[in-house]
Amino acid sequence: MRDMEECKIEFNELMKNRKSTRAFTDKKVSIDDLKEIIKLAQMSPSWVNSQPVRVDIATGNTLEIIRKEHGEINQNPNLHTKSDISFVSAKDWDIDSQNNMKIKGELDIENVGEKVKELKSEQGNKLFNAPAVVYLTLPDGYNEWSLYDTGSFAETIILAAKEKGIDSIPAFEFVKYADKLREHLNVNGRKFIIGIGLGYQDDSHPINQIYGNRMPLEDVLNIHE
Ligand SMILES: Cc1cc2nc3c(=O)[nH]c(=O)nc-3n(C[C@H](O)[C@H](O)[C@H](O)COP(=O)(O)O)c2cc1C
Repeated sequence: MRDMEECKIEFNELMKNRKSTRAFTDKKVSIDDLKEIIKLAQMSPSWVNSQPVRVDIATGNTLEIIRKEHGEINQNPNLHTKSDISFVSAKDWDIDSQNNMKIKGELDIENVGEKVKELKSEQGNKLFNAPAVVYLTLPDGYNEWSLYDTGSFAETIILAAKEKGIDSIPAFEFVKYADKLREHLNVNGRKFIIGIGLGYQDDSHPINQIYGNRMPLEDVLNIHE
């Protein structure tokens, strides 16, 4: 039995070291690891244990077909995003969130340089070179509580992966063209909520110098005694 202190340190380290990866190496994620990660994510809480989330993972040839098509659509100026959850442009967020997004933009330039935008879209076109993409779906007509449950499921995937040394990124990029995904993944009667890329970070790629900061605790937390 490992003592609690040891687990605490490991968990804190895991949380501190997790970040979104935007360039993966070609190393594959094993099917056994993928299964174990999803089994752990199934332990996430959900409204009255409704367990509304379903998981489709694209890897190998299936993912290469999706990746190729994604790159083509992304670079076609006549085709637009067709996600199941609409894209919300920065100006339509609340002021605090807008401010955080602005800070992120400035930090990205500071960390990666002026070429960051170009690199981001290059990597987005390639689905970040992720060797596996996990798609989380909900049934048509889902309610807001199921969105909560999906977030919780997604975070457990990300942390369970990190515990195995597998890096990740949750991204809108993966679910931009939902109808195309429905064709390739044979998903009917369900909405694509989010995709999570899994793999091993390419430390030599400059895009991975992006680090997200966090607001000061006192701006986020109120304790009422
Ligand atoms: C719902 C959601 C959608 C996201 N979509 C994208 C995306 O399309 N492209 C991208 O580069 N990052 C995307 N991200 C990653 C965020 O930019 C990232 O989580 C945030 O900047 C904090 O950085 P960190 O994850 O490295 O801590 C997304 C994150 C979430 C939670």
